[in-house]
Amino acid sequence: MTDAQQHKRNDWLVVGKGAIGLLTACQLQQQGELIRLWLRQPTELQVAMTTVRGAVRRHHFAPWPKTQAARLAFIAVKAYDALPCIQQLQTQLAEDACVILSHNGLGTLTNIQAALKPRQQLWFLTTTHGAYTQSDCSKGHQLVHSGSGSSVIGKITPADSEAVPGWFDVLGQALGPLTLVERIQPCLWQKLLINCLINPLTALHQVPNGALAETRFEATLKKLFAEYCQLAAAAGYPQQETAAWQQLQQVISNTASNRSSMLQDRLAGRKTELDFITGFVLSEADRLGLALPAHQQLYQDCLAAGF
Ligand SMILES: NC(=O)c1ccc[n+]([C@@H]2O[C@H](COP(=O)([O-])OP(=O)(O)OC[C@H]3O[C@@H](n4cnc5c(N)ncnc54)[C@H](OP(=O)(O)O)[C@@H]3O)[C@@H](O)[C@H]2O)c1
Repeated sequence: MTDAQQHKRNDWLVVGKGAIGLLTACQLQQQGELIRLWLRQPTELQVAMTTVRGAVRRHHFAPWPKTQAARLAFIAVKAYDALPCIQQLQTQLAEDACVILSHNGLGTLTNIQAALKPRQQLWFLTTTHGAYTQSDCSKGHQLVHSGSGSSVIGKITPADSEAVPGWFDVLGQALGPLTLVERIQPCLWQKLLINCLINPLTALHQVPNGALAETRFEATLKKLFAEYCQLAAAAGYPQQETAAWQQLQQVISNTASNRSSMLQDRLAGRKTELDFITGFVLSEADRLGLALPAHQQLYQDCLAAGF
């Protein structure tokens, strides 16, 4: 690393030892960024990361020192952990900290903004990169970058400072290609459409994504899709229906053999993000005075199945 790079490197607090957080931490460290982890139990962490090309890289992370205020925090946690995590982290964040949050689903941002101080900036990142972790006593903590993707980021708190933040390029190298958008909400509503159709259905029926192309799911998918489009339009995020339907079919076909994250969570006996996916859809419908019987039924079926 040259002196110039050394001088410019950013100092990141990265939360957790989960898949997306560690992927970001490893990729940023690889570019010479200073990364310390905020773990539930402060400890050093050795990670063996398998890249998408199958190479194995070793990374070592120190814990974030509690005496230091973080100016740059990357938080990729499950949606239900986002608010508790930021509340817990608040004493550790600088008055002008920049917080980058990433999770699937929607419905956390209002409370999170309220938990931040006036000069703290909130950014939201959504990614299609895929990763998973494995802990093996003999091999330590392992991270697999299972699929290369792209990411989109937007500022949630009002844009009062520089348009392109100083960390944008390194984050783009880590989780790129990275697109900076003025308004992230339309992207999140587009992604929610895919999530709220594929995730609960595949998790409920315990099938890989590709099974949704079978005729037995066609009528249900069409009803859920029509209701979603009605809701999104009422919420101010109208979908281009033909393109959105084609995109849904494409995701089902491109990820045919994949297990959705909700199915993986269900099979592993973990809490799912249902409340921030279908639950969010239903709470928005309620707010806007719409009835969405197909989503309501799906939500009830998931609860009855023990999600
Ligand atoms: N993995 C993917 O390929 C992928 C792709 C796109 C989007 N996403 C989305 O990205 C988000 C993160 O996914 P993920 O797969 O990275 O989840 P994950 O593997 O469960 O990682 C989250 C990590 O955050 C930790 N954590 C939560 N709250 C914390 C706190 N207060 N202090 C310290 N650590 C804390 C968790 O610890 P515990 O385990 O102890 O709770 C866990 O290690 C989810 O919304 C997911 O749907 C994932």
